[in-house]
Amino acid sequence: MKGIILHGGYGTRLGPLTLSGPKQLLKIANKPMSQFALEDIKNSGINEIAIVIGDVYPEKVKKYYGDGTNFGVKITYVFQDKPRGISHAVGLCKEFVGDEKFVVYLGDNIMRKNLNEFVNKFSSSSHDCMILLSEVDDPSRFGIAEFKDNKIHKIIEKPKNTDSNFAVIGVYFFTKKIFDIIEKLKPSWRGELEITDAIQRLLEEGYSIDYERVTGWWKDTGTPKDIIHANKLILENQEKQNQTEINKNFHGNVVVGENSSLSKDSLIFGPVKIGEGCEIGPDVILGPNTSIGNNVILKKCRVENSIIMDDCKIDGKISLIDSIIAQNCEIIKDNKQERQLLLGEFSKLKL
Ligand code: DAU
Repeated sequence: MKGIILHGGYGTRLGPLTLSGPKQLLKIANKPMSQFALEDIKNSGINEIAIVIGDVYPEKVKKYYGDGTNFGVKITYVFQDKPRGISHAVGLCKEFVGDEKFVVYLGDNIMRKNLNEFVNKFSSSSHDCMILLSEVDDPSRFGIAEFKDNKIHKIIEKPKNTDSNFAVIGVYFFTKKIFDIIEKLKPSWRGELEITDAIQRLLEEGYSIDYERVTGWWKDTGTPKDIIHANKLILENQEKQNQTEINKNFHGNVVVGENSSLSKDSLIFGPVKIGEGCEIGPDVILGPNTSIGNNVILKKCRVENSIIMDDCKIDGKISLIDSIIAQNCEIIKDNKQERQLLLGEFSKLKL
């Protein structure tokens, strides 16, 4: 089997975070979100992967993943000029796929359960498609599978009214038959070639579609709230670090990267992940559910349920909660009432 990761789209709901790069490179628990997809595909035994890149800094994706050698896979890049839909992006990979079965993984989806069980099932089955379903509270945000007599009856994109809460998650299995279907699709109301329309058409044309329910959590990281929640879920499952010296200021699962220094008067409540070369303290309270990237300086502040990416500096008596700070940001708070601000476009400041 082969793998496809979608790395295009605009990520508009993530506001200023996506002005300088594609959303799938935003780090969650110090790792670009699309790397979770890549590692899941690789660990299922698939090593030929196409990454569909769009027109938002595609060179940053190429620079990070290269030809795949550093990640133990072989990567082919496929360029999509505009986000014309998931089906459109998949259609561009026809040549890459050839005659093989394949899995499509949306680069902003993170799934707790490993892919390999699904890959094994689909590769040895005679189905033309397999979708993964997860129950959601807000069906109007997702593609939804409706059932009749215990069989999938209909697949609808973001329905306003539906009795079903089974979301079709962003991991799809296909055979090459999907390419003929995609060629016949028309853009939806949102101007995209929808993957749900392609699957619906497979159903209508009598192809056999299998499905599996996903146990464990799954996250579509479309909004800042989703990203913060995904960060929490990943940190809750992070591998514990062997601490050479038990630090009495650490509580719970705290993982610290090389060359990071922590002052004795700082307190850390896990789960927390701290990258390399950080300077934490004095007087810092960190966690829980917080990721700190590489080369971050934190002084006198409190950071909880948040993500601070690489090369940031936060200095001053300020509490950041449920926050995402992209790389190279500086937040300095002194005791003065007047503020000197230097904010880029679309910045959001809540003081
Ligand atoms: O997360 C699961 C949901 O993903 C499904 O339930 C929906 O059926 C499916 O349509 C999709 O919905 P979204 O509205 O969340 O899709 P979004 O536009 O966010 O795109 C999903 C990913 O695919 C994202 O990483 C960007 C990428 N993409 C998207 C489009 C439209 C591309 O690479 N190219 C595209 O043309």
